[in-house]
Amino acid sequence: MNEYRTAPAEARRIACIGAGVIGGGWVAHFLARGYEVTAWDPASDAETALRALVDAAWPALTRLGLADGASRDNLTVAATLQEAVRHAEFVQESVPEDLELKRDVLARIDAATPAGVVVSSSTSGYGMTEMQQRCATPERLVVGHPFNPPYLVPLVEVVGGERTEQRAVAWAAEFFEVAGKQVITMDREVPGFIANRLQEAIWREALHMVAEGEATVEQIDTSITQGPGLRWPLLGPCLTFHLAGGQGGMAHMLDHFGPSLKSPWTRLEAPDLTDELRDQMVAGCESAAQGRSIEDLVAARDQGIIAVMEAMNEVRGSQR
Ligand SMILES: NC(=O)c1ccc[n+]([C@@H]2O[C@H](COP(=O)([O-])OP(=O)(O)OC[C@H]3O[C@@H](n4cnc5c(N)ncnc54)[C@H](O)[C@@H]3O)[C@@H](O)[C@H]2O)c1
Repeated sequence: MNEYRTAPAEARRIACIGAGVIGGGWVAHFLARGYEVTAWDPASDAETALRALVDAAWPALTRLGLADGASRDNLTVAATLQEAVRHAEFVQESVPEDLELKRDVLARIDAATPAGVVVSSSTSGYGMTEMQQRCATPERLVVGHPFNPPYLVPLVEVVGGERTEQRAVAWAAEFFEVAGKQVITMDREVPGFIANRLQEAIWREALHMVAEGEATVEQIDTSITQGPGLRWPLLGPCLTFHLAGGQGGMAHMLDHFGPSLKSPWTRLEAPDLTDELRDQMVAGCESAAQGRSIEDLVAARDQGIIAVMEAMNEVRGSQR
């Protein structure tokens, strides 16, 4: 690609293709940061669902602080993909996690988006190398992997594919930072990136335990929310274990617990997702939700995440 059309800090018009849980969350995030957003999603009720998602997120975003000029009125829902990306200065794709669909939609986005505009995919685990195959200008395509909800959880993992040019990766990383995200730029493609690879390890173990009747959904969730989860906002898994080694730190931790690595604590092969396991997980989550609707849970989660973020800012401020 010759030149990028707009500097990352000057991009104002964002197109979001696919507006479900993640695409809608991106829309809410970009609106709150003062961008003009055009969205497209082929579902018949897409606009109603999208506006409802943005409305539900807005109190949390308002509490966090809206950017100058931020308004829900800056959202346009386009009738076609082409119309959505026509004037875009950055495109975020969030269609369902299906490789054929991603290849097809990304090629259509690439064909309709002005030259010199970076296109990013929310994929949870596909490499850009396998997704960009049908694109005419694959050099501008990157992965920008968010976390749910993208309007609150800061992290975005950015990585290119074999045919992505480094300047596109750098452009996207700078853009996301300007847009208020915390960016990890990866040098090479790793299945699941960093955080999903870690999350999936826990998820597979959780499914094994439910399938084997070793723990209930509720026990598994409590084991994290009342246990290691409390440490993770402040210390990642590595520094957490550095402290587990006492004065000896990580060196003692590894010498002491190293042999346990070989203990049969984990069964990282995925379990068979049988109908029975599926039913157990669904019933377990319904019971753990205690009658709260998805909307109730989302609102409670958002309030909780903000409270944790505020507490973390305070803790970090007092430790400076
Ligand atoms: N849900 C998560 O926690 C999460 C987290 C990070 C990344 N992701 C990734 O984000 C992407 C979207 O996932 P989601 O959870 O929002 O799914 P979702 O099912 O909530 O939303 C997908 C949306 O895409 C729309 N869609 C279907 N076909 C389309 C097409 N051809 N063009 C445009 N839109 C189309 C659907 O109507 C739907 O609104 C996936 O790649 C997923 O892996 C999801």
